[in-house]
Amino acid sequence: MFFQKKVGIDLGTANTLVYVKGQGIVLNEPTIVAYSIESYGYRQSAKKILAVGEEAKEMLGRTPGSIIVSRPMREGVIADYTTTLAMISYFLRKSLRGKIFWPEIVISIPGGASQVEKRAVVSACKQAGASNVYLIEEPLAAAIGAKIPISQPSGHMIVNIGGGTTEIAIISLGQLVVYKTVRVAGNKFDEAIMQILRKKNSLIIGERTAEEIKIKVGNALIEESRPVRKIEIKGRDFYSGLPETFEVDEKIINEALAKPLKLILEGIREVLSQAPPELAADIVDKGIVLSGGSSLLTNIDRFFTHYLGLPAFVVEEPLLCVIRGIGLAIENLNQFKEAIR
Ligand SMILES: Nc1ncnc2c1ncn2[C@@H]1O[C@H](COP(=O)(O)OP(=O)(O)OP(=O)(O)O)[C@@H](O)[C@H]1O
Ligand SMILES: [Mg+2]
Repeated sequence: MFFQKKVGIDLGTANTLVYVKGQGIVLNEPTIVAYSIESYGYRQSAKKILAVGEEAKEMLGRTPGSIIVSRPMREGVIADYTTTLAMISYFLRKSLRGKIFWPEIVISIPGGASQVEKRAVVSACKQAGASNVYLIEEPLAAAIGAKIPISQPSGHMIVNIGGGTTEIAIISLGQLVVYKTVRVAGNKFDEAIMQILRKKNSLIIGERTAEEIKIKVGNALIEESRPVRKIEIKGRDFYSGLPETFEVDEKIINEALAKPLKLILEGIREVLSQAPPELAADIVDKGIVLSGGSSLLTNIDRFFTHYLGLPAFVVEEPLLCVIRGIGLAIENLNQFKEAIR
């Protein structure tokens, strides 16, 4: 027998997660697709999907010219429609074990997504087999996932720092009161690391290595009292063109991260300055809640506290916060019906 399933999707720039009602989180994979272009004579070609998710990530930076490994989402929104559609279809099939029976989908979108960007998400889900598609703003989902009592008449600030975007929002009475999407997050941290190593050490590295450096020795706020962390990495020397092993320490990485972190800080300042005074006062008491994978960057909470003079906390398992929120909303639709539209 088939049941109509309710499915939640956190379609992120870096990772896609799927929640199935009554089952929990069933899928958590990178938002990456590998394909080749098949041509059919003059000006006719089609994409042939070769791998999706984890399997496609393994191919990143290691493919022959005929295979393209792409991230179909950029800065929180769909950048490549047909590839995203193929990926959603694949993930749905995998999550529902082939038994797609017109599921109802609740999917997160950035707080500042345009009508066109929202429509693209809805139509991709419908083309992938959804009977109905409901949208939930990512900062609201993150707040629900962080167990913030969002329906109270009290201000809460959530900053969800993902791969492509940072969503900054002040929530009260179950809605976003002031919000801003800054298109700077983990990917920009990686790019900044690649740039500084090229400029200062004449070292060329790939994005996977940059991410590894960030996770191992990235630090938003260096404390003089602690020993400096170091890491050995392999890259290519810009001048000789040869592969070499280099040692990189956290100071240079901290310097690289300063610029993107400042852009996020400015976004938070802007949102705080637009908040009605009562809500701003609530945030002085309760502090800022941080979620999203990039809130795992060492000392990012201290960085915000240092520059804003406000307490900041990272939620438990920040990579799962948004999908947990979507899951809670699906399981308790009555309680959260205002958040879903
Ligand atoms: N320990 C860590 N330290 C620093 N960054 C990390 C760590 N673990 C994961 N990240 C970063 O978190 C980001 C992914 O986070 P997340 O899955 O929340 O993003 P996303 O939801 O896919 O993106 P978005 O919400 O922007 O569309 C990546 O940039 C990754 O490098
Ligand atoms: Mg996200």
